[in-house]
Amino acid sequence: MPGQYRALQGFKDILPGEQPYWRFVENTVTAVADLYAYHRIDTPTLEETAVYRRTSGEGSDVVEKEMYSFDDRADKEGSRANLTMRPEGTAGVVRAYLEHGLYRLPQPVKLYYLSVPMFRREKPQAGRYREHHQFGCEALGVDDPAIDAEMIGLLYQVYTQLGLEDILLHLNSIGDRNCRPQYIEILKEYYRPLLNDCCQDCKTRFIKNPLRLLDCKEPQDQAKIAAAPKIAAYLCEPCREHFAAVQRLLAAYNVPWTLNPLLVRGLDYYTRTVFEFTSGIDKTALGGGGRYDGLAELLGGQPTPGIGFGAGVERIILELKRQNFAPPVEERPTAFVVYLGKAFELKDAAVQITAQLRRAGIKTDMSYGERSPKAQMKQANASGAAYAVIIGEAELAEDSITIKDLQAEGLDTEKKQVQVKRSALVSYLSCL
Ligand code: HAM
Repeated sequence: MPGQYRALQGFKDILPGEQPYWRFVENTVTAVADLYAYHRIDTPTLEETAVYRRTSGEGSDVVEKEMYSFDDRADKEGSRANLTMRPEGTAGVVRAYLEHGLYRLPQPVKLYYLSVPMFRREKPQAGRYREHHQFGCEALGVDDPAIDAEMIGLLYQVYTQLGLEDILLHLNSIGDRNCRPQYIEILKEYYRPLLNDCCQDCKTRFIKNPLRLLDCKEPQDQAKIAAAPKIAAYLCEPCREHFAAVQRLLAAYNVPWTLNPLLVRGLDYYTRTVFEFTSGIDKTALGGGGRYDGLAELLGGQPTPGIGFGAGVERIILELKRQNFAPPVEERPTAFVVYLGKAFELKDAAVQITAQLRRAGIKTDMSYGERSPKAQMKQANASGAAYAVIIGEAELAEDSITIKDLQAEGLDTEKKQVQVKRSALVSYLSCL
């Protein structure tokens, strides 16, 4: 019976069969982040709603339509906090950086997070979930374009080290608070006479978030987007210089990239460099990020430059599967303990041997639930264990154990089996 309940729509169980992919991604991210001298940070799943509302922006889809927010129960004073389940990783990390005075450390402070659950009430579809997991990096305290290049180079190295092929970087600069407002006015001037003919979402974007007009996917608006003024021509001199340096320094990391003047990103906190990685086969974003030099101020901190990215683990795994990549298999048990008989002494001895081998660091399993010797041997074979460690009446009487090689094919039974003293079992298996 499949039971009465199902996981919620857009939420997924990650069953044991999937875990080798997750472990492979997590191990690779940890190794690459360490190589680039990033340090792990974990922040809570729940934050005050303002942490996200102030930073991602009122006009973003995430804040406007997708956050899981709720009023907490009243505290002793009777006030209720409004809380939100983390929709993205950056705001919480910057909140922690400010709260714990990490700005007092040598800058930049380079942080990463791993398989962090994110919650967005999106329309579920392939590769788009209501709970997804990201790994990400944030480097705070320095606006050096070399760190922009490092950040992009790091994420590219994760993809290539995972074995993914055909990965492309889309790169753009969206200016800063000095030059962007002027560009936004020019963009609005351009769109004003076209608005009647725009989709409903674009009419809203025109008022709330004009930069996102360039991100519209409706066929009717594509020609308008193509002909729209692009920000590259309106960057102020410092932004232009910064972007030129990022492009120059990126060459050191051998990342294949293309300028994408339409890349604007979905969250409002970005300044200057923005980027996204896609796979050549499928255009969904495998990961993306950018600079956010004004974010710390939005949370009440001193002006603090920052840059980072977030990358979806589920999307990477889908891409690994699409590219027919098999993750490293989980290590099989060395030993599977089998007891031949119903006497409780035999079962007790099997449990003792199993526990002893595990204490000695030897990966071991056994059968549970009173199975026949034949069924236990079948299970031992199915487990992929290298050896069956067999205890029967004779072995119990002689204080010995029979070890059967389960992987040796073609040998006759005698050569496959040896008998050793129980006291010598651990050293025997350790030497094999
Ligand atoms: P984001 O582009 O919203 O950026 O998300 C980062 C990545 O998470 C996406 O490129 C995609 O791979 C994955 N992703 C996003 N939404 C979903 C979903 N519903 N289902 C599956 N995967 C998804 C951010 O979240 C920024 N905090 C990144 C950042 C860090 N910028 C600076 N620092």
